[in-house]
Amino acid sequence: MSRESVVSEGLKGVVIGKSEICFIDGKRGKLIYRGYDIHDLVKHSNFEEVVYLLWHGKLPVKKQFNDLYNNLVANRELSKGVISILKSFPKKATPMEVLRTAISALSLNDPDADDNSFEANIKKAIKLTAKTATVIASFDRIRKGKEPIEPNPNLNHAANFLYMLTGKIPNEMISRFFDICLILHADHELNASTFAARVTCSTLSDLYSAITSAVGTLKGPLHGGANIEVMKMLSDMGTVDKAKGYITARLAEKKRIMGFGHRVYKTEDPRATHLRRMSKEMGEKTGEIKWYEMSRVIEDIMMSEKGMYPNVDFYSASVYYAMGIPMDLYTPIFALSRVSGWIAHVLEQYSNNALIRPIAEYVGPIDLTYVPIDKR
Ligand code: ACO
Repeated sequence: MSRESVVSEGLKGVVIGKSEICFIDGKRGKLIYRGYDIHDLVKHSNFEEVVYLLWHGKLPVKKQFNDLYNNLVANRELSKGVISILKSFPKKATPMEVLRTAISALSLNDPDADDNSFEANIKKAIKLTAKTATVIASFDRIRKGKEPIEPNPNLNHAANFLYMLTGKIPNEMISRFFDICLILHADHELNASTFAARVTCSTLSDLYSAITSAVGTLKGPLHGGANIEVMKMLSDMGTVDKAKGYITARLAEKKRIMGFGHRVYKTEDPRATHLRRMSKEMGEKTGEIKWYEMSRVIEDIMMSEKGMYPNVDFYSASVYYAMGIPMDLYTPIFALSRVSGWIAHVLEQYSNNALIRPIAEYVGPIDLTYVPIDKR
C-alpha cells in the first residue's frame, strides 16, 4: 500500500542522521576519523590512540592516552567462566559464531551491563575492546587442543593479540603492520554492522547487545566475511598464471569477485592503498610473493572488465595470510578492531537518541477473508 514514500532498496543513499565520527568521501577516496585523514593516522598514530580519538572525539594528551592504554591492558583477561564457556563450544564452531556468543556472555557477570550512563559505557567499552582480542586468540588455541596464552602486559594491543595467538612475540615489522590493520579497520561510518549496533542501542538496549548485533552482522560475506572468501579464492587459483582465467570465467558466470566493489567508494578505497603495500612487503619478507602477484593480476582484470576497485577486504586477506593467521580468523580480526568504531557510534547514538525504525512499502494483499484451518 503506497504511503507516498520513495523506496530505497538497501537504504542506498539514505541519510539517517548526523554523526561527528567518520567521514567518507567516496568520490575522492578519502576516509577521515574525527577530522583526521586515515593516511595521517597510519603514518603517525597507533590503534590505542585511534580508539581514544573515536570514543572521545579528540586526540588524547599523554595522561589520557596512558590511562586508556593501561586500562585496556588491565582488562584483557577473561574470567574462568568465560574460558570454560569457550572450552565447551564445539571445536568446529566458526570463530565468528564463537565471538558472537562470547561477546553476549561477557555481559552476564558485568554489574554495569544495563547501566547506559557514559561512565559505565566507557568502562564496558574498555572491557569489550580488550577482551574481544582475548576471546578470539583463546578460542583458536582451545580448538587446537592447547591452553589459552595469558596476555602479555608489555605488549600493545596488536602485538599482544598475535602473541596470544602464537605464543611468540611478533617482530617489529609484523607488530606495526598489524597495528596499521587495526587502525584501518577501526571505523567506517554507517556500514551494515555499525548500523546494526545503532539500531540495537536506539531501543535503549545495552552496549553488549549492540556489539553482539554488530558481530552477527559483520559475519556475512557481503560485509566482513569477504576477506575469508578472498583468501579461499586465491588458494583455489593456487598460481599466478591461473588468475586471469579464473576471474574471467567467474565474471562470465555473473559471479561476484569478493574484495571488490563498495557501496560508498567509487574510486580507490584509501585503506586498500596501505594494505596493498603491506601485502607486497609481507610477501617479499616471507618469500611468498605469489599471493600479492595474483592479487595484482585480479585487480587489473577487475579494473579493465568492470571498472571496479579493491575494497579493504581484498589485500587484508594476503596480509593476514603472510602473518600466518588462520583464514577463518580474518573476520574476527576485523571485529577486533571495529569494536572500537561500533562503540563510538553507540556512545553517539545514546547521546542523542531517536529510535531507529524505518517503514516498508507494503506490497502484499489487504482484503483476504480468513478461512478456518480445516477448510483451507
Ligand atoms: N564482483 C562483480 N560484480 C560486482 C561486484 C563484485 N565484487 N560488486 C558489485 N558488482 C556488480 C553487481 O553484480 C551489480 O551489477 P548489475 O547492476 O549488473 O546487477 C552492480 O555491480 C552493483 O552491485 P550492488 O550489489 O547493487 O552494489 P552495492 O553497492 O549494493 O554492493 C557490495 C556493494 C555489497 C560491497 C558489492 O560490491 C559486493 O558484493 N562486493 C563483494 C563482497 C565484498 O567484497 N564485500 C566487502 C565490502 S567492504 C566491507 O564490508 C568491509
